Formats: sequence, C-alpha cells, structure tokens
Amino acid sequence: MENIISSYIETHKDRFINELFELLRIPSVSADPNYSNDVFKTAEAVKEKLISAGADNVEVCATAGFPIVYGEKIINPKLPTVLVYGHYDVQPADPIELWHSGPFEPVIIDGKIYARGACDDKGQVFMHVKAFEFMMRTNNLPCNIKFMIEGEEEVGSDNLGIFVKQNKEKLAADIILISDTGIIANDIPSITVGLRGLSYVEVEVTGPNRDLHSGLYGGAVANPINILCEMIAKMKDDKNSICIPGFYDDVEILSAEERAEMAKAPFSLEEYKKSLDLSDIHGEEGFSTNERNSIRPALDVNGIWGGYTGEGAKTVIASKAYAKISMRLVPNQNSEKITQLFKNYFESIAPDSVTVKVTPHHGGGPVVTPSNSIAYKAASKAMEKTFGKKPVPVRSGGSIPIVAMFKSELGLDSVLMGFGLDSDSIHSPNEHYGVFNYFKGIETIPYFYKYYAEGCKG
Ligand code: BES
Ligand code: MN
Ligand code: MN
Repeated sequence: MENIISSYIETHKDRFINELFELLRIPSVSADPNYSNDVFKTAEAVKEKLISAGADNVEVCATAGFPIVYGEKIINPKLPTVLVYGHYDVQPADPIELWHSGPFEPVIIDGKIYARGACDDKGQVFMHVKAFEFMMRTNNLPCNIKFMIEGEEEVGSDNLGIFVKQNKEKLAADIILISDTGIIANDIPSITVGLRGLSYVEVEVTGPNRDLHSGLYGGAVANPINILCEMIAKMKDDKNSICIPGFYDDVEILSAEERAEMAKAPFSLEEYKKSLDLSDIHGEEGFSTNERNSIRPALDVNGIWGGYTGEGAKTVIASKAYAKISMRLVPNQNSEKITQLFKNYFESIAPDSVTVKVTPHHGGGPVVTPSNSIAYKAASKAMEKTFGKKPVPVRSGGSIPIVAMFKSELGLDSVLMGFGLDSDSIHSPNEHYGVFNYFKGIETIPYFYKYYAEGCKG
C-alpha cells in the first residue's frame, strides 16, 4: 500500500482540497437558528461526498434537531466493522471582525487552510471520506466500515444520544474511530486516550424589578452584576480549588507512577506561556499545567453580561446579570450530579437581596480509552508508519459528549486518532488546519484499517 497511498494523494491533492472547500463554504453553525438551512444543506453535501466515495445505503437521518448522515460499506459480515464518527456542524464564527479572511471563504495561507470547521471537524471528517475513497478505488478496504456524521456535536449531541439508543443494531461495530482531537506537534504524534466530561449551566441573578439610576439607588440596593461577581469569586479558594461542596468527591486520583508517566509527554512551559503571551500560568495548586487541563476538573466562566455595554457611559444599576459557566469533568465525576451540586451551592451563596436561577445546558461524561487494545495498537502503528515516530498517549482536556455514551449504550471503545494542533484556533477567529495535517490524516487512516484488520485476525 505504501507507494500507492502517497501517489494517490499526490495525484488527487488539488481535488481533495477543492472538495473540502465546498464543505467549508456552507456555514453549518448549529448554535445559531439563522444558519439552520445551511446545517441541513451540509448534511446533504456530506451524503453526496460519501456516495461518490463509494459508500452504500447512505441516508440523511432526520432527528428532532439536525440530521445524522449515515453510510456504510459492508464487504463481508464476518469481518470486523469500524464505525467512523465525526461532526459536520461548526461553532459560530464571531467575533467576525477578528478574522483575516471570511470564516466561510476558505483560503490556504502559508500551508494552512483557514475557515471555520477547517480542523473542527469538517477537515478531519473529510480525511476519512478521502481515505475511504482511496481504499475503495484501489481495493484496499480490509474490513467493514460505517459512517455516522452528526450535526449537533457543538451543541451537546442530544439527538445523537437518542439516535444511538434507537439504532443499536444499525450501529453494531467492533470499534469507533474518531478524528476530532489533536497531536502534540507535527513532529510529535500522539493519540488521545482521555476526554473530559462537561457540565454547562447558565445563571441569572435578579436584583431590583427594573433598571435603576445608579445615583439615586447606588449603594442602597443590591447590584446584580456586583453580586454575580462576588458569587463567582466564591467558586474557588486561594489555592484555585473549586469550593462547591462534594465537587471532588468522585474525582479519580492518579497514582504517582501514572502522573510520572504522564509527565514524560514532551512539553515546554516556556513555549506554552510564550504562545499565549502570558507572563505566568494559573491553576489548581499542587498540579502541573498538563495535569490541570486533563486529569483535574475545571470551572470557567465562558461569558458574563448585564447592564450597559454600549458606547460612552450610562449611569445604571441593571435589574439582571447573567453568566454561562462550564465545568470540565474527569473520571468518575457524573455530569448530572455535578450540575445539581453547582445549583445547590449557587443558590446557597446567594444573598437575600437577589434571586437566582440556574439553567442546565448540555453535559457529557468523561472518558478514558484503552491504550493496549488491538485498535489502539493499530492506530499507534499507523501513525508510527506515516510520522516515523511512535505516538505518545495523552489525555486531552476537551470534550466530545457522545463518546462516553458509545461505551455505555453500544459497549464500544473509541480510538481518538486526531490530527489537529492546539494552535489551530478551533472555536476562535482564524481557525485553520495544516495542509500537512490534512494529507497526513488521509495517508494514515488506511494504515489503521490495515493493521486493525490484521490485528483482529490474530
Ligand atoms: N473537537 C472538539 C473537542 C476536542 C478538541 C477534544 C481538541 C480534544 C482536542 C469538540 O468539537 C468540542 O469542541 N467539544 C466541545 C463540547 C461541546 C458540548 C460544545 C468542547 O470541548 O467544548
Ligand atoms: Mn469537534
Ligand atoms: Mn468543537
């Protein structure tokens, strides 16, 4: 397969880029109802791409929200089956004024494809479609393959959860393969073996029944924005440990050996700080930066608003203040339980001068995937083949809500073989994906199938 795959990519590289661009041009923002038609359009486009790559029984499966695109190639029911999961929806592009080029007008600059979704996750999904095309056209598909590409990952995958529960037979497989994560660097390949879970809540603090003149009332009534800030300050102590009672009760404690093993992953704190223009780092006392964003939970305000934020100054005490807060969870924390603990605590620290409301958003469980399975070894061997270096197993701080459910509902482990970089600015302005990474993915994936099929034979 060696030479064939490289020469296949070389021959078709312009088309591979142009076809990806077609997908990137459709603004499939799942969070914003204004883009709803485009999300549906993207599902149809993914369907067409799967059909032309050679998939059978391709369908756009309707849900109560955005559809799930399914397709398959069953070459022999006796052979193992790989279920490829990914998402065609993207995060909103704003703040749009910070983009150097249109978020939905893909361009290549300095070897990087700039567009919303270039890395997360259209680019990475499309690597699988093109690797599949290669295997089909060159007779190199060694096992069965199923595709399940959803349109609601960025908003919590609620409808996919229902779909999975209702379609266990259709989704029957031996392993799930996902490219929606990253590698340490282009010369330091890695495989993700853990994802954090998520609890996401919105809070509302109400003070007086209407906005007030801040001179006539200032100092005499509770200002909900001030109170919200005080309440948020009470979420962490001076060691940056989260104060919600019971929050850490279920947190898995890693052994000194496991932590020492983790610390072997290449990492430069100086470069980390430099890349973010930070003169110092920040986090829970007693843990390293890599531990803080992988094996330890976190609580962050993702947005906060209220009062007057327009031009100039308006003297006003707002009636209401709001914040959106995420909590990243680690094994064995439970998303619903943590949301409830947050709610209890937030209500308990609210002074009588205000009323508060906590609204839960989406959540998902944490996962740790095996690093000694046939599938992991196949991914490791595939990456070693194409990068020339054995990949390092790493736990990531991000979340893919459905992965824990794949395990609990389908009994399936996932292999998280992603090709992005932390510096790709996913969810941020100027998201990009290296042309190198895109082609490296297309090159590596067929080897995964080859080694996985061989591994299953024993
Ligand atoms: N692909 C990301 C998650 C990710 C990125 C994991 C890089 C590891 C490395 C995914 O699309 C994502 O953004 N997930 C969301 C959760 C979702 C419920 C909005 C996240 O982690 O914030
Ligand atoms: Mn993603
Ligand atoms: Mn994302």
